Amino acid sequence: MFEGHLYDFADKEPQRAPIGVFDSGVGGLTVLRQLYRHLPNESIIYFGDTARLPYGIRSQAEILQYVREILKWMQQQRVKMVVMACNTSSALALEIVRGEFSMPILGVILPGAKAAVQQGKRIGVIATPATAKSNAYRHAILEIDPNVQVWQVSCPEFVPLIEQNRIHDPYTTEVARSYLEPLLQQEIDTLVYGCTHYPHLAPVLRSLLPPHVKLIDPAVHVVAACTQELDLLGLSNIHPPLPTRFAVSGCPQQFAQSGVQWLGHTPMVEVVDFTDIAVSQVQ
Ligand code: DGL
Repeated sequence: MFEGHLYDFADKEPQRAPIGVFDSGVGGLTVLRQLYRHLPNESIIYFGDTARLPYGIRSQAEILQYVREILKWMQQQRVKMVVMACNTSSALALEIVRGEFSMPILGVILPGAKAAVQQGKRIGVIATPATAKSNAYRHAILEIDPNVQVWQVSCPEFVPLIEQNRIHDPYTTEVARSYLEPLLQQEIDTLVYGCTHYPHLAPVLRSLLPPHVKLIDPAVHVVAACTQELDLLGLSNIHPPLPTRFAVSGCPQQFAQSGVQWLGHTPMVEVVDFTDIAVSQVQ
């Protein structure tokens, strides 16, 4: 059972409340990195649903249930805003759950799509099977600019390889080569990381791509949207932040162990038990 402290000042000084960030696992740390860089005053609660990853092979009904449970928990932690640091959740659940909760909820797909059309005309998207199947990127990109071309590739092996810390394993390079091949045949000029785990593979992907292909990390752009939204709502924090709280649904030691290389320190990780979180009122 989660025993963390509540942010008691949230009512009186809502700008000091934390931003909630979640993903299935370590993928959202690529978004956290951008939040640290661009919004250094913000306090953050990071949640990784490690007991139920990978999300990318789940049905929409499963993703919706998980996302509702996470958002309900985030609401209990008195967050002022949530960043869905997960493309699969953003593709399959964001539009449905947005109206069910009072806090603003940002997803990664629209900011990523906007950035992609500013960079190229022949756009490749690598994503989880669920995100690729949803066509969320294709729709978002073509809605902004119907004159670009979009190719999506589903990459089922990437998330397990990243979560198992096998980024530098030669097998990972071979898998990446086979996923990129159809996109290279189409002579893409831009590649979107359609999963927040994938920027962890940047050195591998860069080594396989021609130098002129631009890489789009939606994390950078969702954080820009987050900055704007906080300003607009008068919710930007000017005080020093609290230390980031990390929580997972699975094994905290495992998350701490794989997180250390991305965070530069070993995080303290709490466990959340979702059996206590009833979602009936939002269904
Ligand atoms: N990192 C998430 C995404 O952006 C989820 C990946 C997964 O668990 O399959 O889609």
